[in-house]
Amino acid sequence: MTTAEFKKQIAEGIPFRLPAPKPYDQNLNHAPKRKDILNSTEKKLAVKNALRYFPEKFHSVLAKEFVQELAAYGRIYMYRFRPDYEIKARHLDDFPHRSRSAAAIMLMISNNLNHAVAQHPHELITYGGNGAVFQNWAQYRLTMKYLSEMNDEQTLVVYSGHPLGLFPSHKNAPRLVVTNGMVIPNYSTQDHWEKFNALGVSQYGQMTAGSYMYIGPQGIVHGTTITLLNAGRMISKTGGGLTGKLFVSSGLGGMSGAQPKAADIAGIISVIAEVNPKAIQARHSQGWVDEVFSDMDKLIRRVKQATAAKEVTSMAYEGNIVDVWEKFADENINVDLGSDQTSLHNPWAGGYYPAGLSFEESNRMMAEDPEKFREAVRKSLRRQVEAINRHAKRGTYFFDYGNAFLLEASRAGADVLNPEGEFRYPSYVQDIMGPMCFDYGFGPFRWVCCSNDPADLEVTDTIATETLVKLIEKSPVQIKQQMADNIHWIKEAGKNRLVVGSQARILYADAEGRMAIADAFNKAVAEGKISAPVVIGRDHHDVSGTDSPFRETSNIYDGSKFTADMAVQNVIGDSFRGATWVSLHNGGGVGWGEAINGGFGMVLDGIEDTGNKLRMMLHWDVNNGIARRSWARNKEAMFTLKREMERTPGLKVTVPYIADDEIIEEAIKEV
Ligand SMILES: NC(=O)c1ccc[n+]([C@@H]2O[C@H](COP(=O)([O-])OP(=O)(O)OC[C@H]3O[C@@H](n4cnc5c(N)ncnc54)[C@H](O)[C@@H]3O)[C@@H](O)[C@H]2O)c1
Repeated sequence: MTTAEFKKQIAEGIPFRLPAPKPYDQNLNHAPKRKDILNSTEKKLAVKNALRYFPEKFHSVLAKEFVQELAAYGRIYMYRFRPDYEIKARHLDDFPHRSRSAAAIMLMISNNLNHAVAQHPHELITYGGNGAVFQNWAQYRLTMKYLSEMNDEQTLVVYSGHPLGLFPSHKNAPRLVVTNGMVIPNYSTQDHWEKFNALGVSQYGQMTAGSYMYIGPQGIVHGTTITLLNAGRMISKTGGGLTGKLFVSSGLGGMSGAQPKAADIAGIISVIAEVNPKAIQARHSQGWVDEVFSDMDKLIRRVKQATAAKEVTSMAYEGNIVDVWEKFADENINVDLGSDQTSLHNPWAGGYYPAGLSFEESNRMMAEDPEKFREAVRKSLRRQVEAINRHAKRGTYFFDYGNAFLLEASRAGADVLNPEGEFRYPSYVQDIMGPMCFDYGFGPFRWVCCSNDPADLEVTDTIATETLVKLIEKSPVQIKQQMADNIHWIKEAGKNRLVVGSQARILYADAEGRMAIADAFNKAVAEGKISAPVVIGRDHHDVSGTDSPFRETSNIYDGSKFTADMAVQNVIGDSFRGATWVSLHNGGGVGWGEAINGGFGMVLDGIEDTGNKLRMMLHWDVNNGIARRSWARNKEAMFTLKREMERTPGLKVTVPYIADDEIIEEAIKEV
């Protein structure tokens, strides 16, 4: 298809003539059939809701088709309206537009739906089993049309994938405001999501799926590498590093698929179990996992050989993680680091496959007998924890990697609590990412080159490296290690060939680093050293962007970890300081109802005023969370805030006085 035809199709939105029905492509990874949750009245409502997107003349054909889709898949995806062109990141000028910012957003949306990037592309799911960009293809088509038409004095409003419309605004306002899954708090259980989503009125946007900020598995490779390196420092106080050590986990899906690659980069041997052969095949063919085993005995022999020879390799096991933990315990295989990355934020609808059932049996049971399936999941989690406990007794450092493993295991009655009623294993944020990164302001900084040209990405890599190398010289000792890890990462990034989809990169930096790199990019765009604008953003796994009591904010100990003021304030603050788009979500990462998270995207177009905006916005985007973490008495954040206030005129933050525990004990005794 020529670029002109592509542009024409985007500008058309919902086609004037009914396109031919599309075949169901068996070669693609599809979302599992969703639970049959609607009663007969609600099913009619779901179809009526879906028909709202189309002129009446199509209704008699589409009504029948949508009833069938709802029965067959539990959702109405409107498959017939999938476009014929390939959806992928392109040069921003290849998208029809009146606003370059809108074109950049189209590029980002397209990347999230690219077949090479998305987990279930035909169901518009980017990752995590249910992380949706849109609920159906009509929403995609309409959104792209609006973006192609809008100017820089309009703002597009998107409610859970549904484009509400273009509203007049002004040049400095965001071009797009997205919310996903925002519901009245009392209506935020898993089944509420199933129901609202089946009705077509809400969606689970995960974190970067519904905010158009996904950059393929590279983001999570980086996060996992940093986590493993820091975990390695924790377990080898003697400085032995990760050499010859073994990491065991599960999942080779959208995000979890990064684990073997990250383990290779961090220099630790890894075994990752995965029940879905298609997921294994995808990661193996991309070179993200080195070896594949379906025979447990062969796997064990290879693990023994690799650990004895201290040979770094990553191994996928085609089967259930529960079997790996149990068999490795029986065989006395010493596991140094352990985690889990099944999609336990979504335990009943395909996120977790119970031991003892085949992949196909599970898929059938979750749709046909959901209660029996729930019991199988609970039983499997209890078995998994029992086996992990055996390993932990022998010294395995097990951590929850932000997938709600401990939460769901405890709900299943697994032996995962200590006598004080707390989880016996830490979340990776409590021990590692919180105190070592977030409390110092270190978090994700990602960018995408809108020329879609690898040469531009190389230039940005060099600029980012030079900027950080300059900053590390005057960094305080407390943050030098994080700076050094990220300088090493960015120097190696090109070599590790991490790009899948758009020309994107990620690193971790603090407020100063993020502002300096963005500033340098903006100048390079102005000077023509980078050939087109650059989008900056982050995932929501960060200092300020997310309130998630068992993940991002699990190292907040003043009782406020169940509040969500920080994440909401963050998005509001970003939106009036210059973000090109902002998004606020219910649920990312750990599950619907379990977190509130927000993000932003900003187009660096080389204009001087963009320089002012980026400094103002990034400063807030990091220091909001630093101020909150400092108020929670986190000492690393108190240190960072003090430093920030010394150098930033106008920043005046309320700092806590620290009470002496003995005074409180005495006071309680006396009353
Ligand atoms: N820590 C982080 O920074 C972070 C980041 C992103 C996602 N997450 C969380 O990690 C989880 C995984 O995300 P994802 O995008 O990879 O999801 P995904 O659904 O794409 O992948 C999970 C994989 O686990 C496999 N699986 C499920 N049960 C299994 C079992 N018992 N044994 C072996 N394999 C099994 C599935 O087949 C699937 O391929 C999610 O809960 C997500 O929210 C954490």
